[in-house]
Amino acid sequence: MADAPITFDGRVAIVTGAGGGLGREYALELARRGARVVVNDLGGAVDGSGGSARAADAVVAEIASGGGEAVASYDSVADPDSGAAMVETAIDRFGSVDIVINNAGILRDRSFPNQTVDDVDAVLDVHLRGAFNVSRPAFTAMKERGYGRFVFASSNSGLLGNFGQTNYGAAKMGLVGLSNVLAIEGAKYGIRSNVIAPVARTRMTEELLGPLAEYVHPAQVMPMVVYLASEACELTHEIFSAGAGRYARFFVGLTPGWFAGARRQPSVEELAEHIADIRATEGFSIYSGAGEELQRLGTLLAGADDGTVSE
Ligand code: NAI
Repeated sequence: MADAPITFDGRVAIVTGAGGGLGREYALELARRGARVVVNDLGGAVDGSGGSARAADAVVAEIASGGGEAVASYDSVADPDSGAAMVETAIDRFGSVDIVINNAGILRDRSFPNQTVDDVDAVLDVHLRGAFNVSRPAFTAMKERGYGRFVFASSNSGLLGNFGQTNYGAAKMGLVGLSNVLAIEGAKYGIRSNVIAPVARTRMTEELLGPLAEYVHPAQVMPMVVYLASEACELTHEIFSAGAGRYARFFVGLTPGWFAGARRQPSVEELAEHIADIRATEGFSIYSGAGEELQRLGTLLAGADDGTVSE
């Protein structure tokens, strides 16, 4: 029996950076499946310079020619008012905002000593502040309606690190923190928030992928993102890798660690002696939030000897 089709009838999506690359794939597929889409794109260069209405307009036209509905937004997500404008457009034109895919991005790669203040600001402004700018007004609108889906575009450059990308890596890891907290704050309003770490050949990566390039089409990332954006997906607070046809989960895990005892302060030497236990990954835990870690610490202490703090 075929799986139930995943549709977006009656849903409204904002996709940032949807004028090309991955964002375009997301916007086209959401529209094909019935969503009405705000196609946001500044239409600039990979480093964030310049701008043009062409990129967003072309995707809106492509959606319209396939019988879908979309509207263009040319705002820079780095503009603090851009999100409010996009949400207003979504509500005025289509009645609501149900989905936000924070995908807009630029690169200013340079080794750490060579990163200028401007390189850092430009990248943080687009990726991290941009996601705040767009998500905050959308979250407010979603909360009122009791439904929402957020997808944040992170990167293995942040999750794992990559030479020359301190600005980009920091921004991309910042998005994980933003999504984790949105998942927690949005839980009781039917709002889910997840992160994607894509690998795809786009103008951003065409010179970086080497022999992988021919195997990593942006369309292969799309199903993961469209699933996360759907009502069928109740997952939240998670991170997924998608690329080259391989879909997998990234996670932040905590090792069981070494417990020195309640009210006990071990010496530095004692700690050093246990460093292998502290690092051992067997039996790790994945927590749903900071509260769960504190709860587990409480449980550990409740079962422990009540010693005294050594001076
Ligand atoms: P891309 O360069 O093709 O697409 C990015 C889009 O964002 C462009 O159309 C650009 O005009 C738009 N944009 C840039 N600044 C903007 C702003 N201030 N406001 C609105 N739109 C803006 O690159 P790609 O590869 O499609 O990237 C999409 C996202 O995925 C980015 O966030 C990128 O960092 C992330 N990513 C991509 C990977 C890949 O392998 N392609 C790997 C890891 C992350």
